Parts: sequence; structure tokens; C-alpha cells
Amino acid sequence: MKWNNWLRQMHRWLSVAFTVAVVLNIIAMVQEKSTVWVGLLALLPLGLLLVTGLYLFVLPYAARWGGRWE
Ligand code: HEM
Repeated sequence: MKWNNWLRQMHRWLSVAFTVAVVLNIIAMVQEKSTVWVGLLALLPLGLLLVTGLYLFVLPYAARWGGRWE
């Protein structure tokens, strides 16, 4: 199904955004310039990764339950 593929691609690219945000956080911490918004920069993609990741996790089971998921 198209929708599943779209969410998988989203999860992939969010992982890149999250990785960049983690690197920025480390740089900010080392320079002692860490602020709340630098922290939130990583938290937002991580939250979306959790939601899309849980969806991807459930997919194979949902397919076995006989739904029209995959
Ligand atoms: C936060 C909770 C997360 C959950 C619950 C989660 C869950 C999953 C699941 C279930 C899959 C699909 C595995 C499969 O059946 O093929 C997946 C794929 C993947 N995850 Fe996550 N994930 C999470 C966070 C992350 C993070 C933090 C990263 C990297 C920074 C990441 C990177 C990836 C990548 C690159 C894939 C492969 C995507 C593809 O198929 O092209 N995930 N994840």
C-alpha cells in the first residue's frame, strides 16, 4: 500500500534529521551554548520517529490479522 511506503520514507528521512540534531546538540553542549530550543530540535524528530516507528512495527502483525494493511 502507498501509505505504508510513504511512512517508511518519512521514518528514514526523520532519522537523518534526528542525527543532525543530535550532532548540533553535542556541539552546543561542548561550547556550553546549549539552550532549550536546541534540545527541542532533537526531541521533535524523535517524537515523530517514535510514532512512525511504532506504526512500522505493527505493520507485519496487522497484515497477519488479515487486514488490508500491506
Ligand atoms: C523512537 C522509536 C523508534 C521506533 C519504535 C522505531 C521502529 C522502527 C521499525 C519498526 C522499523 C521497520 C523495521 C522493518 O520491519 O523493516 C524501523 C526502521 C528504521 N528506523 Fe526506526 N524506530 C525508532 C527510532 C529510530 C531512530 C532514532 C532512528 C535513527 C536515527 C531510526 C532509523 C530507522 C531506519 C533508517 C529504518 C529503515 C527505514 C527503511 O526501511 O528504509 N529509527 N524503525
